[in-house]
Amino acid sequence: MYDLIKKKRDGKELTKEEITCMIKEFTKGEIPDYQMSAMMMAIYFQGMEEKETLALTMAMAESGDVLDLSEISGIKVDKHSTGGVGDKTSLVLAPMVAAAGVPVAKMSGRGLGHTGGTIDKLESFQGFNTDLSKETFIKNVNEMKMAIMGQTKDLAPADKKLYALRDVTATVDQMSLIASSIMSKKLAAGADAIVLDVKTGSGAFMKEEADAEALAREMVRIGNNAGRKTVALISDMDQPLGFAVGNILEVKEAIDTLQGKGSKELLELCYMLGSHMLILGEKASNLKEAREQLVHTIKEGLALKKFAQFVEAQGGNPEPIFHQELFLEASIVEEVQSIEEGYVEKIHCQEVGNCSLILGGGRETKDSEIDLSVGILMKKKVGDYAKKGDVLALLHGNSMEKMKAAKEKLLGAYTFSQSKVERRPLFHKVITE
Ligand code: URA
Repeated sequence: MYDLIKKKRDGKELTKEEITCMIKEFTKGEIPDYQMSAMMMAIYFQGMEEKETLALTMAMAESGDVLDLSEISGIKVDKHSTGGVGDKTSLVLAPMVAAAGVPVAKMSGRGLGHTGGTIDKLESFQGFNTDLSKETFIKNVNEMKMAIMGQTKDLAPADKKLYALRDVTATVDQMSLIASSIMSKKLAAGADAIVLDVKTGSGAFMKEEADAEALAREMVRIGNNAGRKTVALISDMDQPLGFAVGNILEVKEAIDTLQGKGSKELLELCYMLGSHMLILGEKASNLKEAREQLVHTIKEGLALKKFAQFVEAQGGNPEPIFHQELFLEASIVEEVQSIEEGYVEKIHCQEVGNCSLILGGGRETKDSEIDLSVGILMKKKVGDYAKKGDVLALLHGNSMEKMKAAKEKLLGAYTFSQSKVERRPLFHKVITE
């Protein structure tokens, strides 16, 4: 390991064999954390060549379980988002794409941060279970084209160990390390093709568009080199997606969107991502044709029906999908009124996320309990005009003390302008190779 660290420190390229061996030994616990940390720092400064990044990704993907989905007929297309505030895309996209006939066999996480991950959100349905056996998972996808299971403990364990180290050694934000970390989990999860939603803006991991594009290109290159057709969309995360932030509130917005009456922005994002999924899944030959199929799943209620069928098949009570008043509700709902007048110029996404965290909607540590009922409903978004006293947002909470702190945080997230404000486009770019 000493020689490898020195080699990388001096800017030389590591071979595939060296990287594979290093990851194998690290996973077994044969390489101490201090040496691996030094290696991560060397990579941070020297970067990695395309071949090295691919070797690292493959080694991490193969460090644990690699799901074999060959018993599922059809081309399995997975989607991954680099994350953001109010991102409930999977809840709308997966049933829509499944209803259009592309199998969705998805592994999702719980997430650490301002709201829960997809799994936490789905647990808003009483009884919902993501702890599926591989057999049930495959059977459900074959029978109704859709299943979501929790990430198995042994999915890319090398990445889990490495990420924990990077997190405490200031080596997370290196492009090749991020790309290989994300893609190793996607490759191990077994999909044939992958659509990536890479976010950019104040609520995204990659604040600058150029960085988001570089990350997208790196991940697309890895996916294609690993034999999985991969496409990335760069989409906007400079303000929360849609109107709801918080677990149950987001599930309700997803249901509204599946009924065609939710957030237009969320629906548009799902049409765009879904169209690429249908093309990769060979159900459509171009974007126009794919979009028509997806619009049909919404207009005819097929996507909503698919969602209900999926919730029930995984042990959840689907009743609240049709009677939203049955969802757990927060005990206090308060308005946040504007103290300024003007056009909303910016909504600092991360701060809205922190507001949800204060209310109890997210996890600060991996053992924190989430309150599924709390969150924020945005009433004014970028470009809207607000007079003094107009409602900017509704806070849903269960503690007056937390509400007070959250209100302050939310007010601080808004910036106003006296002149008209143009909204940023929802899509910035599509990267295919
Ligand atoms: N998400 C991941 O899974 N890995 C990273 O390195 C960064 C974000």
